[in-house]
Amino acid sequence: MSTLKTTLTGYTGYRGREGHYAFLLHRITGLGTVLFLVIHIIDIALVYLSPKGFLDVVALYQTTLFGIGEIALVFCVFFHGINGLRIAYFDMFKPANWSIETERNSTRITLIATLILWLPATFFMARNILIHNYGLFGG
Ligand code: HEM
Ligand code: HEM
Repeated sequence: MSTLKTTLTGYTGYRGREGHYAFLLHRITGLGTVLFLVIHIIDIALVYLSPKGFLDVVALYQTTLFGIGEIALVFCVFFHGINGLRIAYFDMFKPANWSIETERNSTRITLIATLILWLPATFFMARNILIHNYGLFGG
């Protein structure tokens, strides 16, 4: 219990700004993607185990709530991937450059690159939800 308390106060109390946020986001997006992957393995297995169940699951994924979840999943995968490459780059090629300043700059670049990939994907995914679930844009 005291370990949990230390973890929670450390997560929220530490004032590391960009480096701290990058660490937290990397952990949340990594765990979020793992959670998705577990569900995803079960849903794809249904094709074999229960084809009718698979169609039900696909129908569930078409609901607005799951659509929003998918948009969040795309953010998780992009951020985690790009930030993971950033960490690996510094670890392998520039270990002497791990400083607060480079951490802050490279985190900002990571976030911008994530947004450049994520926003267009969000546009198309959100548009699909509006077309298919709400009949907008001639849907
Ligand atoms: C482009 C692909 C990926 C890259 C480059 C990548 C990179 C990394 C790196 C470098 C770390 C260690 C971070 C550190 O030591 O500070 C890490 C941690 C982690 N990754 Fe990935 N990863 C990728 C894909 C994935 C996927 C697909 C999942 C989930 C299925 C995942 C789940 C995790 C988790 C749970 C952690 C531990 C987070 C933590 O300790 O805070 N990663 N990843
Ligand atoms: C909303 C996003 C996603 C959708 C709609 C989706 C859909 C699918 C579908 C339909 C299959 C079956 C492919 C086939 O065998 O014909 C599949 C397989 C698979 N997916 Fe996803 N997927 C998504 C995201 C992801 C993500 C983010 C990961 C990794 C973290 C992932 C990992 C896998 C793996 C490992 C397989 C099995 C490989 C294969 O059968 O080819 N998927 N996915």
